[in-house]
Amino acid sequence: MDKLIIKGGFPLSGDVQISGAKNAALPVLISSLLAEEPVRITNVPYLNDIKTTVALLAQLGVEIELDNSQVVNVDASVVNTVCAPYELVKTMRASVLVLGPLLSRFGRAEVSMPGGCAIGSRPVNLHLKGFEAMGARVSVENGYIVAECDHLKGARIFMDQVSVTGTENIMMAAALAEGVTIIENAAREPEVVDLACFINTMGGNISGAGTSEIRIEGVNKLGGGEHRIIPDRIETGTYLIAAAVTGGDVCTRNTSPGMLDAVLEKLKEADVEIEVGIDWIRVRGKGKRPRAVNVRTDPYPAFPTDMQAQFLMMNCIAQGTGLVTETIFENRFMHVHELQRMGASIKLEGHTAIVTGVNKLFAAPVMATDLRASACLAIAGLVAEGETLIDRIYHIDRGYDRIEEKLAQLGASIKRVSGQEYKKMTDLTPYQSPHIAVSN
Ligand code: EPZ
Repeated sequence: MDKLIIKGGFPLSGDVQISGAKNAALPVLISSLLAEEPVRITNVPYLNDIKTTVALLAQLGVEIELDNSQVVNVDASVVNTVCAPYELVKTMRASVLVLGPLLSRFGRAEVSMPGGCAIGSRPVNLHLKGFEAMGARVSVENGYIVAECDHLKGARIFMDQVSVTGTENIMMAAALAEGVTIIENAAREPEVVDLACFINTMGGNISGAGTSEIRIEGVNKLGGGEHRIIPDRIETGTYLIAAAVTGGDVCTRNTSPGMLDAVLEKLKEADVEIEVGIDWIRVRGKGKRPRAVNVRTDPYPAFPTDMQAQFLMMNCIAQGTGLVTETIFENRFMHVHELQRMGASIKLEGHTAIVTGVNKLFAAPVMATDLRASACLAIAGLVAEGETLIDRIYHIDRGYDRIEEKLAQLGASIKRVSGQEYKKMTDLTPYQSPHIAVSN
């Protein structure tokens, strides 16, 4: 398994190009299953989850090609099967998004039950409840969700809880249903808006995306079209935090500041100097420690759960004490234990982490547990004294486009080593903790 080795103490500076949003690209690529003509999707990020999605669509019989300029051409005019197998779904739970389009276009879908993951049980009951409201018969057989219907009918669906992929799955199913579907208490994330925009490009009739009430008027069929994926707001926020904690000066390019209001507000509260343009955001760390901030995660446009770990890390080296409350997922504090091993002062009380800033973190061998936790540990490595080793970085490869290249271009001392390379290195020089004097 690959590892990252990061030597701390180098302020980041320069420009970083933000990639297309993972959480927009996944539903947009999957919604191509609705189209009876070829579609072209650009600004697709270079991520393992994208490769998994391409493999999943190919497995369904779709003609798909991902070229190295991050363009995906999809022709789903013919689909050979409506079954998404366990082998693929287990590696990416967002595969559950194929249910809506397959059910709506072909009247049947079989998807392996997406397991939970490190951050929570991640149920999909709201997705299934929406399909049943539109007339589908849903059952679970041998670990597979089986959904079928003669023809989905529009319905008024109230989401008991705001769910991003739940809203997206139901929106895709409603796109080809008979009549009008209203989704109430819908997710308002920009990625939901991007999906609605693409479905409308293919000939769909969706209004209200970005608000908590979305109206979808079903059409008979959807055609081809072209779509550019929106920038990744979480990747953007991650680099802004990296700049702030290293006391650097970084400009994130090809991004969209309007999607980051809650994050930018918190950075200002932390006394981080921010400059915003049409498609760029610049952060100057001013060479001093940021101020600790309180954050509470909530559905968009409130503070995003996908930025919780990164802000918690900033609080670890900030002036003062900050409270970080996670309301979306039940187990999204696993980065805390790893940060404590690096010298952070954090106390967990239920869904709140009480973080008291310290002057310095110390390098340590740490383990990534989920996508955003691994990004937070990489940022911690950028400021820790010594060389931090991050294991299981396949988590980070799922959602950050070439992170070590982008960080290295900003001046970080970071390298990726394979398991074998690392073994050779440690066979020669055992990991030397900065705390243990090694006698020659
Ligand atoms: C999406 O996950 C994102 N993933 C997540 O990003 C993000 O953290 C999350 O939304 C919240 O913003 C993608 O878009 C691919 P939810 P999703 O349904 O849709 C509960 C990342 O790091 N719930 O909005 O799976 C659920 O347990 C990932 O990029 C139900 O109870 O999240 C959670 O508590 C991590 N039943 C809450 O709702 C359901 O049927 C919100 O989950 C669905 C959800």
